[in-house]
Amino acid sequence: MANGSGVIGELERRIEHLLGLPNPLSFSSGTAGLHAAYLALDLPPGSEVIGPVNTFHASVSPALHCGLNVLLVDVQPDTGNLCPAALEAAITPLTRCVTVTHHLGHPAAMEEITRICRRRGLYLIEDISHAYLSTLNGQPVGTFGDICVGSMQDRKSWSAGEGGLFSSPHPQLRDRAVLAGHYRGRALALDNPELAAYGETGLGLKMRMHPLAAVVGLANAEGLPERLASRRALLERLGRRLVGLPGVRPPVVRPGASMGGWFSYRPQIQLDELRPGVTVDAYLARVQDAGVPAHYPSIGSLAQMPLFSEAVPLRAAARTWRPRRCGPFHGETSYSTGRISVSVAEGDTEETIDAYGDAFADVSRALADGPVAA
Ligand SMILES: Cc1ncc(COP(=O)(O)O)c(C=O)c1O
Repeated sequence: MANGSGVIGELERRIEHLLGLPNPLSFSSGTAGLHAAYLALDLPPGSEVIGPVNTFHASVSPALHCGLNVLLVDVQPDTGNLCPAALEAAITPLTRCVTVTHHLGHPAAMEEITRICRRRGLYLIEDISHAYLSTLNGQPVGTFGDICVGSMQDRKSWSAGEGGLFSSPHPQLRDRAVLAGHYRGRALALDNPELAAYGETGLGLKMRMHPLAAVVGLANAEGLPERLASRRALLERLGRRLVGLPGVRPPVVRPGASMGGWFSYRPQIQLDELRPGVTVDAYLARVQDAGVPAHYPSIGSLAQMPLFSEAVPLRAAARTWRPRRCGPFHGETSYSTGRISVSVAEGDTEETIDAYGDAFADVSRALADGPVAA
């Protein structure tokens, strides 16, 4: 199994088949897959990785352990995805890599971002942890860049309990990722003799997936497209119920974007359409009282986190890890202001969704500024 046989190989074939990703490799977590990705790029110390300010930290934090640095840039106010103009403005002569997250399942602006990366000679990593089965103009996320990584941790729409996936169309990057996280087995079997020479030890780290996690991943692969399609249908139904209500907007889905599973469903409260003095807290409390499992989103901006704003307590990285927050983050502020999250779980039905829709309608009408059409 350490050589990629058995359930490990089976899971990797399912990843290729279901997600359309070439040469997939399994890892012990998404974080480990991203660590292997940054090691695989083999960039000069001090090289910069640019990523969105609102991603989960592990999209970029493993770069800390690879002698790299991170620049955080603004996102688009409608989707929360990396803003191409902010990316372009942040590039310096040290920049070598861009990492995008397809935020909450919405594909990032890949046309512009791939164009920028090609023109400026930058590697592109796609973090698809939130976006299994999402597509942009029919193309699966994870197939636009040089490397794709996804988390298969318990909360993700394709879970292995804990786990991660890696894919790259470039054999050299894939081989280096093998060496970064695996040893013996598949590391000794690499086609590239220069890398296979290190197969006995790899690069000294062990980041491969537990076989039991692969079994869980395989079980959860069963019916995945159907499960995600039915979740999407429910959330689209909720979106249609929110359209036109005062004080609340459903999440934006841009033309050409197809949501896979919608990792988290986040409407936005618009206070300017509600009575003066009404707060987001008050709106949220009312919909909660009406039975909607709504709450504030759990992850904030990376700009506030000490790992990205203060000297890191790790001397090995002191010379290279000097994260830069390339603000202002007006896009992130517009995106996140008034965002709430509605939990829609497996087992929820159209009736559940209609009850949530009714609750939003009642609250919006009760708090609206001025008369509202029935
Ligand atoms: C966008 C994103 N990237 C990376 C990760 C890290 O994955 P893992 O928890 O499997 O290490 C997560 C996990 O929550 C995530 O949401």
